[in-house]
Amino acid sequence: MHWREPFIWSISDKTPLGLLGGVVLGVSLAWSSSALMNLLFAGGTPAADDGLQAEPAPGPIEVHEDEIQAKGISGLVGNTPLVRINSLSDALGIEILGKAEWLNPGGSVKDRVALKIIDNAEREGHLIPFQGSTIFEGTVGSTGISIATMAKARGYNTTIVMPDDVADEKHKALLALGARVVKVRPASIVDKKQFVNLAREMALEFGEVPLVHSTDVEITRMDSATSSDDPTHRNAPRGFFADQFENKANHDAHFEGTGPEIWRQTNGGVDAFVSGAGTGGTIAGVGAYLKSMNPDIKVVLADPEGSGLYNKVKYGVLFDKKEKEGTKRRHQVDTVVEGIGINRLTNNFSLALPNIDDAYRVTDTEAVAMSRYLVGHDGLFLGSSSACNLVACVRLAKTMEKGSTIVTILCDSGSRHYSKVRNDDYLEKAGIPHDPSIIRRLLAS
Ligand SMILES: Cc1ncc(COP(=O)(O)O)c(C=O)c1O
Repeated sequence: MHWREPFIWSISDKTPLGLLGGVVLGVSLAWSSSALMNLLFAGGTPAADDGLQAEPAPGPIEVHEDEIQAKGISGLVGNTPLVRINSLSDALGIEILGKAEWLNPGGSVKDRVALKIIDNAEREGHLIPFQGSTIFEGTVGSTGISIATMAKARGYNTTIVMPDDVADEKHKALLALGARVVKVRPASIVDKKQFVNLAREMALEFGEVPLVHSTDVEITRMDSATSSDDPTHRNAPRGFFADQFENKANHDAHFEGTGPEIWRQTNGGVDAFVSGAGTGGTIAGVGAYLKSMNPDIKVVLADPEGSGLYNKVKYGVLFDKKEKEGTKRRHQVDTVVEGIGINRLTNNFSLALPNIDDAYRVTDTEAVAMSRYLVGHDGLFLGSSSACNLVACVRLAKTMEKGSTIVTILCDSGSRHYSKVRNDDYLEKAGIPHDPSIIRRLLAS
């Protein structure tokens, strides 16, 4: 049970705000809640002694002059608001709070990861701005959009390798951001042309620069693992493989950012955290941080159809029955939900495993129904992974004491999903109903 009322933004309490408003609101809320925490914990004095335990009265959002100065686009990443999902919370008697990650400047939770990967690469000397270097990544889209957004501002080009059945709006966004996009047939990870493998290989090939040493010509690979004091080497454009699946910077972005923000914004009053996993970075980093603050917080995986992670958490075996039945429609993960679900063990998910207490399997039908339900009841137009997370929140809520608080991640906006989850023709062809009453029944069950 939580010990102090969370300080959150309820969408029905405010007039609609645009993206900038949301970001400013995020900064303001983060300031307000951390200021409150400072006040509460000054000198280690418990809140009850100060008489400060009352719920903060809802008031106008205060914007302070020094809060609206972001140092370039990277200054806008993170500090997203926590929004109460009114329809679900009221129906369940459990506070369901979503981290509004779609308000990041690149439109998703992946901005945090892109920024951290670039920051680390610069600090470690793998990337030097404005010398023609290119960041390569294999992604189903969101990470690519975030990398492309950050890279331009930091002096890099981007090449994104993605499966060719990903929602078309992500491809268009990448092109609009100036990225080079390479589309490949969805393939197994053992295939050299699988999108992650190809991105790695292209990064290595990009770095093959001919170096002239007297009469010899030497071909040298300049990838993320290579460094040299030779100025010809040092100033040559580099190919850098971001490697979100294996790169621990992914976990760290959430351990240092998302996790502490959730803790502050709930004033430590969080009982459970729910997240899907694509790379596993979010659930790994947030899970580890929250457990370090309070080991009783439950960390729960929301896993879509076709993903093997549910079985890994529940039974220790990474496997989905569609693999056995040979009924897969896609090579990667057979689900309409984009961004989460996977059938191999990544480094970032391995880091998450020790902290995951439980998992829920979410069907495509439920995820689609939830995305429609949220628009109809809360005015929240969210992407499919957010909908999947919220279905798992409902299931979990039914096992928890009334008044408990569950936090989840609202990864991206529905505007990234027009051609699939929001496309009735597509869904009908895939045999997936779009019926929000499924959620009403789930809530009532
Ligand atoms: C839309 C969306 N939601 C959720 C995730 C999952 O996050 P993570 O990779 O941290 O597991 C991703 C990952 O790419 C994503 O694109």
